[in-house]
Amino acid sequence: MDLLLALVGERLKAATSVAVLTGAGVSAESGIPTFRGPGGLWKSYRPEELATPEAFRRDARLVWEWYDWRRQKIAQASPNPAHYALAALERLAPAFTLITQNIDGLHQKAGSERIVELHGCIWRLRCEADGTVRENREVPLSILPPRCPCGSLLRPDVVWFGEPLSSEAQAGAFAAAESADVFLTVGTSAVVQPAASLPLVAKRRGAFVVEINPFSTPLTPSVDASLQGRAGSILPEILSLLPKV
Ligand code: OAD
Repeated sequence: MDLLLALVGERLKAATSVAVLTGAGVSAESGIPTFRGPGGLWKSYRPEELATPEAFRRDARLVWEWYDWRRQKIAQASPNPAHYALAALERLAPAFTLITQNIDGLHQKAGSERIVELHGCIWRLRCEADGTVRENREVPLSILPPRCPCGSLLRPDVVWFGEPLSSEAQAGAFAAAESADVFLTVGTSAVVQPAASLPLVAKRRGAFVVEINPFSTPLTPSVDASLQGRAGSILPEILSLLPKV
């Protein structure tokens, strides 16, 4: 592991362009449950049963109860050493993009700035009728489901299963993957597309691809370095190998 860490450190020192893809595992050490694996369920529902336009049409209140529960968890959470290490890495790399599937806003709270939010943000609500987006940090929400002043339902401004990503976010993510010398994939099960294909796109373009995860994923056989462990330990270790700014 030490040799592998040293190799990753060397690659990062030499890199002019770094891209990072994060998933729910990065926020696990902040106390936010991941989607898959132990503790990943809310009541007896799977995310695929709740994070869909069909579920919202069927029972907007149920879907909002889940999001309200998640907003409460996130509101109590603070960034962990993984979030802070990524914010520090951004300040070291000449070109840097943090692509996150997380909707919790903890990367921003830790100081990251160059972020592509692939799946949206739980602190924004969008009117179903006219698409107006507003920030809303009320926790818990006083009325479920929340409504727009125009009377229409509000939904979380996030991407649900079966919905396309914002074209701007998708373009930003793929451009970063295509130009990266080093690509880190951290705390994601790498099963949800198109995010899961970003490390492979980077690799095809010649990037050195590193995975940080306590467990193997479908991506593990394809990466150049698999660092098995918690992001909150491994990312600060990597950072300690790099020059200080
Ligand atoms: P998952 O819940 O699928 O995967 C979390 C990953 O984090 C797993 O591979 C864990 O092994 C790993 N993990 C757990 N603790 C960790 C730690 N301390 N350090 C590093 N890794 C750790 O979450 P995502 O891959 O983010 O989409 O899921 C992708 C998408 O599926 C989500 O954005 C969401 C979900 O349904 C939508 O809602 C559209």
